[in-house]
Formats: sequence, C-alpha cells, structure tokens
Amino acid sequence: MKQTRYVTTPIYYVNDKPHVGHAYTSVAADVLARWWRLQGYEVFFLTGTDEHGQKVEKAARDAGMNPQAFTDQVSQHFRDLAGTLGLSNDDFIRTTEARHKAACCALWEELARRDEIYLGHYEGWYAVRDEAFYGPDELTERDGVKYAPSGAPVEWVREPSHFFRLSKWQDWLLVFYEENRYFIQPESRRNEVIAFIKSGLQDLSVSRTSFRWGVPVPGDPSHVMYVWLDALTNYITAAGYPDTKAEHWKFWPADVHFVGKDIVRFHAIYWPAFLKAAGLEPPKRVFAHGWWTIEGQKMSKSLGNVIDPVALVAEYGLDPLRYFLLREVPFGSDGDFSRKALIGRNNSELADALGNLANRTLSLIQRSCEGRLPDAALVRDTDKLFVDEVQTLPTEVRIRLESQEFQMALDAIMSAVRSANGYITVHAPWALKKTQPDRMLEVLRHLHDALRVFATVLQSFMPGTMAALLDQLGVPAGARDLAALATPLPGGTALPPPSPLFRKIEIEAA
Ligand code: MSP
Repeated sequence: MKQTRYVTTPIYYVNDKPHVGHAYTSVAADVLARWWRLQGYEVFFLTGTDEHGQKVEKAARDAGMNPQAFTDQVSQHFRDLAGTLGLSNDDFIRTTEARHKAACCALWEELARRDEIYLGHYEGWYAVRDEAFYGPDELTERDGVKYAPSGAPVEWVREPSHFFRLSKWQDWLLVFYEENRYFIQPESRRNEVIAFIKSGLQDLSVSRTSFRWGVPVPGDPSHVMYVWLDALTNYITAAGYPDTKAEHWKFWPADVHFVGKDIVRFHAIYWPAFLKAAGLEPPKRVFAHGWWTIEGQKMSKSLGNVIDPVALVAEYGLDPLRYFLLREVPFGSDGDFSRKALIGRNNSELADALGNLANRTLSLIQRSCEGRLPDAALVRDTDKLFVDEVQTLPTEVRIRLESQEFQMALDAIMSAVRSANGYITVHAPWALKKTQPDRMLEVLRHLHDALRVFATVLQSFMPGTMAALLDQLGVPAGARDLAALATPLPGGTALPPPSPLFRKIEIEAA
C-alpha cells in the first residue's frame, strides 16, 4: 500500500489580496492533509502563488510597481493567510522561484524532445482575467464587447506561438477518464469535461510573445510560456521535478488536486495531457468545489462585498470559520456565505451541542469523581446503541473523507454528538450520585469515551479547539491519532478543570 499522500490547492494569482474563496480551498486541503496524518500517512500538502502572466503583469503596472516587487508583496499576503488559517502546508511554492523556472524549462524541453510542441501562429480570443483561450462559439456579445462564459471580456490575439499537440490526446483522455472513474469529481464536472472533449480538442497555444512577464521558452526567448503551463507545473516542481530519482518524488502522483469549478478544464484536460505527453504519471484526482456567493450576491470588487478571511477569523474565531466553510454546503456545490448562517452553526452545533456536552460531562467528572477518569465501563443493553454509533464513527468519517465529502463527514459527527446529548439526558448521571454511584461512573465513562472520539476525528477540522478538548479529556499528546482510539485511557487519569470551548455569538440586530 502506498504510504504517502499528496494534496494541493490551486496556486493563487497575486493580482489581488486573498478572499474567502481562497480560504475555502485551502481549508479543505488542510483538513484532508491533517486527516491523512491522523491515519499515519506521510503527507505532502502544497499551496502557493501563481505569479506570472498578463493579468499579474497588468496588476503590477496598475500598482506602479515592477512585477517582481509587486508579486513579492502580494504573495506575502497569501503566505500570511496560511498562518492565519492554521494551514499545515509542508511547502509554499512561488512560480517566480528558481526551482520552479528550472522545472518548467525541463518539462518544456522534454515535450519538445518528444515532438509534442511545434511552432505556429495563434489567432483567436483570449481573456486576460481567466488567462484562457476561447473558441468563437463559447462567447456572447454585449454592447460590442465579447465575453467568455465566465463573464470575462475577451480580446483578439494574433501572434507567433508554440503549440502543444493537445488534439492528439483527445481519445487517450476519454479512455483515461473511463478507466479512472473518480478522476474528476463531482460527477457533474466530469460530464462537463467529457462533453467538452467530445466537441473536439484543438492544439493549445503554450507560448506568448506580446508581453514579457513569464518563463522564457528554452531556445526561443522571444516567447514566454503560457501561464497555465507554467502554473500547473508547480505541482511537480514541489515534488522535486525534474529529479524523479530523488526521495521527494515518492509523493508524485498527487492524490487530490483541489480546484474551483472555474478551473477544471485546465486541471482535468490540459494537465494530464501535458504529463502523459512528457512520460509522467497523471494525478489521481481533481476535485472541483463550488463557488460562494455573499449574502446572495456574486462576490466582486465592484459590488464591494469581497470578504477578507483575516477579518472573519478576527471576528468569529478560526475554528468556527473552518467548521462553517465545510459544514454549510456539500463540497462540490455552490453555497451562500452569510454571517447569520455562520453564527447559527456556531451557536447551535459548536457552542450548544458539542461545547455543552463536553462541559457538562467534564464538570460532572470534576465534581462527582474528584476530577479522575472513571474506569473503562461495561456496555449494558441500554448503552449499546450509543456506544456502537460512536465506535463506528471513525470508519464512517474515513469513508466520507476518502471521497472528500466533508459535509457528510461532519453530518455523521454531529449526529453522534446529538446522540450523546440524548444519552446524557436520558441517563441523567447527575441524578445517580446518591442512588447508583457505580452506574454514574459507567455513564460518565461512556460519555468521556465518546468525547474522545469526537475530538480525535474533529482535530483535522478544528485543530486548535480540539487540542484544547483533548487536553481537558486528559488524552496524552502521543495518543491523539486514529489508531490510538483502540487503547482506552487508564481509569484514574487526572483531568484538569474544564473551561468552555466555544462562545456563543450574538446575532447583531439587522
Ligand atoms: N492561478 C489560478 C490557479 C492555478 S493552479 C495551477 C487561479 N487562481 S485564482 O486566485 O484566481 O483562484 C484560485 C481559486 O479560488 C480557484 O480555485 C477559484 O475557483 C477559487 N475561487 C475564486 N472565487 C471563489 C468564490 N467566490 N468561491 C469559491 N472559490 C472561489 O485560478
């Protein structure tokens, strides 16, 4: 069995500061990386910034800065955001780094050596905002301006260009998707990609001559590489390419590339074709998540509703935000971001359901058991349903997360938390102290065992708060992975006095 796992986020354009959409992909990738680590895999989690191309060059010009100084500055915001979001990324790649330019040149030379690239002339539509070429039948026209399906205006480009023989890989791609049934997720995106390919793939322009901000083409420096060829390569640069003999190459192929739905075409069509053409293995999965609207509206600068994730963390706390992003909508579907929804989830699920459960249980252990964990308890008939639900939870979460169903994983966890609340109400351990002290110990121990499972599986979603809960539960640092759940904590373990994990947030008056 492969013991390594590799997950990536898209590398973010440095034309502007990060927003909540960027935070979303990054948090999803972080949760998966942490989850794999809990299972004992050796994990490589990559994120970074996409710094070349016309769009970034223009943003630098608009800011009155030279592109390198500009990208240094904006890239730093993304690096800082990784810290703010508590990301556990193992590397942060910038496409302006020497290691990356070297990888791009090596990949280009390999493609050229295999006659996968030829010199020609491009004439057609280009959207700088998307850094993408579009066919005439994909465009719509308003007031004399043509627009791509994304809404980005397109311009007519006419220049000499190197082409990648993409059309040659059309049939291979269709077979590849057939043989790798879950390569593109969710299914709706897979169907979209297949339909697009069946409509006919054209060779792809992979170099530009009308601007300079890019990686010069080896042997033809009047061209710079198309920014998507440059950007996609980051995923192998970070795995050590072109040194495929090095230790670090063990992480390739990537297990999951997380992307937004707008950039599926690049990842699911161009990327495997480039790799295959260069004799390299394609990634195992491309998962495209949906887009967030903000309080019902498209997020855009002109509407002034762009949400800064740093401000959200400051206002609501990191873990409630991480939880909300993956809890609110099925991963793959679009969702609406509203403060009311975030506060609602925080108050009802985190503060009330989980937080109160922990606080009630741990306060009772403090008060009624002198702060010592009761011994491992017998599972009586009346405990069985609840204990079974808790014991099967890690497997259920694992199955959900293997297919990146974050929402379903959280749903299963929350349903077990609700069962625990039902269990504490029905068995009322606070009423047993005088009449049935031994039974009180059993009930509290079952609740403690359940909380340990909840905290263990939730660590990947809410690392900070769950570390605090595991501290309160008396779980030693070395016993917090999934395998450790098989070993019960020794009875008599001293537990610190509990303190609240989540705070309720007031819904401001509208
Ligand atoms: N630089 C390219 C990716 C290259 S990967 C080899 C790029 N960058 S981006 O900064 O424009 O977008 C990064 C990601 O943010 C994309 O996956 C995109 O889908 C996502 N989002 C942008 N706006 C979003 C929302 N409103 N909601 C959710 N995700 C959004 O594309």
